Order: sequence, then C-alpha cells, then structure tokens
Amino acid sequence: MSRFAYVNGRYVAHRAATVHIEDRGYQFADGIYEVIAVCRGELVDAEPHLDRLERSLRELKITMPMSRAALAVVMDEVITRNRVADGIIYIQMTRGVAARDHAFPAKPRTQIVITARRTKPHPRGVDEDGVKAISVPDIRWERCDIKSVSLLPNVLAKQQAKEAGAYEALFVAPDGTITEGSSTNAWIITREGELVTRPSSNAILSGITRRVLMSIAREEGLTLVERAFTLSEAKAAREAFVTSTTSFVMPVTQIDDAVIANGKAGSMSRKLRQRYLAHMAQGGQA
Ligand code: PDD
Repeated sequence: MSRFAYVNGRYVAHRAATVHIEDRGYQFADGIYEVIAVCRGELVDAEPHLDRLERSLRELKITMPMSRAALAVVMDEVITRNRVADGIIYIQMTRGVAARDHAFPAKPRTQIVITARRTKPHPRGVDEDGVKAISVPDIRWERCDIKSVSLLPNVLAKQQAKEAGAYEALFVAPDGTITEGSSTNAWIITREGELVTRPSSNAILSGITRRVLMSIAREEGLTLVERAFTLSEAKAAREAFVTSTTSFVMPVTQIDDAVIANGKAGSMSRKLRQRYLAHMAQGGQA
C-alpha cells in the first residue's frame, strides 16, 4: 500500500518525502512532536494532545505554523490517505531551515511533517503476563515536560531495554525515585492498594494517557496519590504498569531481577487497561 506524508503544505509519497539538510530539527533537535492514537479511524484525545503540542512550541518559542482547525483538517486527510483504522499519527514541527548557527534564525519558518501508520495489536498474553522493565539512570535534561525531538537518552535507554529482553527502561533519578519510562509514564499500586504516580513537573512528560487514566481511576473510586516513588518501592509493589499513547496501560511484572507480586498482571492493572481500551474505542471521550 502506498503511504503519504504531509510536508510543509503538500501531500507527498512517503518514500519521496524529504526535509532540507539544514533543517534545525536535523542539526540541533530544535523541534517538538506529538503522537496521537487513531482508533477506528478517529483520533483519540486529539484536543489535549494539541494543547500539549502548542505548549511545547511556546516553551521553545517556535511559532505554530497553522491554525488548529487547519491542522485538524490535515490530520484527517493524512489518516484517510494512509487508510489508517487503528494506528498512530505523528506530528513534528521544527524551527525551520537556516545556515547552521546555534542562535535562532532572524525569520524562522516552522517546518511541519505529519505521517500516519497502522500499528499491530499488542502481542497476545501481555494482558495477563505483562512485560519486563529495566532501570537506568535518568541522564536527561531538566525540561522533560517539553515533548522535544531531542530523545537521545530515551533512545539509548530503550535500546538497553531491548538488549536485555525488556519492554521498557525506567529512568531513576539520583534520589532513587523513578521519574518515568523512556517513552511512558510509570505507576504502581502499593500493598495498601493506593494507586501512585509521580506528579507532573519538569522531570516528566505530562502524559495524556496518564491524565485520562487519572480520571478513570477517580471514576472507579480508587485511591489515587500523586507522589514520587522509589525503584525499591516499585519492585516491592503489588502491581506496576506504564502508560502511553502506544502502550495504553501496560502491566509490568518484572523490574530488573525483581518479579512483581506473583509475576502476573494484577487485577487493578487489568481493569484499568480494559477501561482505557474502552475509552479509546469511544474516540477518547473522557
Ligand atoms: N511517548 N513519557 C515520555 C518520555 C514519552 O515519550 C511519552 C510518550 C509518555 C507518555 O505520554 P502520552 O501518554 O501522552 O503518550 C511519557 C510517545 C508515545 C512516543 O514518543 O512515541
């Protein structure tokens, strides 16, 4: 099937889609991105994702290149042209093309690329068996709240996880607390039955899945506590899971050599996963 990408105002064949060699995204990672899930052809939670996109742009002083309404039209077109029923849309905006100089160009023109692709369903068994995670030192900068394309520590961490046969790498701050996963937010359920996740701050990306799940948890009447938790606490937890646009709610049943509880996905993680999948199927109406 031929794929299409939207590049600066044009729909082009995916294999022929290119950006300039002096794009600042390429040279300096001077740009931001968003990943939004597509479920049954509909974007899931598009509004909060676009709010976060605009926030990331503002924080980096990059101009939004088009209105939100126009962006919505383009996103729909990219989904349709690529015949994506279940998958993701990727939006990237950079500070544009200019002769290499660290300081901003005098007249920056934001470059925009949008792609979409189908994604495979999660492997059977994850609902029950969960996945393995490893821990790695958090060596990232102090603005992890910005969804910047500068992802080198995340890339290295994910590769380390992959080489260890694990699904995710959990970043651990110098104080021993888990900040988040390399591309996910981290959660635990304590022995006392409290659902715990780290509060939003510059140390983590404020995940949209995280926010939606917080409201689902409240609806379910769960005790939700936003606080930092340590790696040892996570290893001794009753349940653990990670959340993201592509992982949804993914039970974690092993961290490093520590098996969580009995090594099977816990009942609360499974319930939250089911609730989140239902939320997606409803087009993300929280
Ligand atoms: N990653 N933390 C980090 C570092 C992330 O990169 C992501 C998302 C999340 C979860 O955010 P959300 O629930 O809004 O997807 C947390 C995306 C999916 C990616 O980079 O592919």
